Amino acid sequence: MIQEGVDTSKRQFLTTALSVVGAVGAGYLAVPFLSQMQPSAKAMAAGAPVEVDLSKMEPGQLIRVAWRGKPVWILNRTPEVISTLSTLDSKLADPMSNESNQPEYAKNSLRSIKPEIFVAVGLCTHLGCSPTFRPEIAPSDLGEDWKGGFFCPCHGSWFDLAGRVYRGVPAPTNLEIPPYRYVKDTLIIIGEDTEASAA
Ligand code: FES
Repeated sequence: MIQEGVDTSKRQFLTTALSVVGAVGAGYLAVPFLSQMQPSAKAMAAGAPVEVDLSKMEPGQLIRVAWRGKPVWILNRTPEVISTLSTLDSKLADPMSNESNQPEYAKNSLRSIKPEIFVAVGLCTHLGCSPTFRPEIAPSDLGEDWKGGFFCPCHGSWFDLAGRVYRGVPAPTNLEIPPYRYVKDTLIIIGEDTEASAA
């Protein structure tokens, strides 16, 4: 019995000591855990607005940037492209973007602030593949009805050069337009907007 008493007392001491160490240890563990919960500089940069210099863009050129982990396209549309876009409404599912995702200032037939510069998220609204840029008219693989646009190779959705989806394809809505604004004529910021987005 004495043996049991000694053992019990030692056990009590050890239990108390280990509890203290455990509490201190938990305190040490909590510090790095909390610091890991702060957004890293990299994570903040990934969500940060992106500046795009338009000054060297050629007519017809498409450039790609990344914003919030998504591809964003900037296309410099030619007068010919803009005039073709005005002839396509009857073939499109949502020509005025009533059911589609864009800021109010891009809810128009060209889906942009300025006619020539088109900005869109480069992900198909069906299942998220990245469509290919096919600006040519009636190429042999897409046929005579193709007036230039973005073609999604995953399940064959067609979008025009305003990101508007054609009728009868799997994609349900037009391509998403991200928020953006002009800082000046040749510089836009993607990921920021104001009601006065037009330069
Ligand atoms: S993901 Fe584009 S058509 Fe299916």
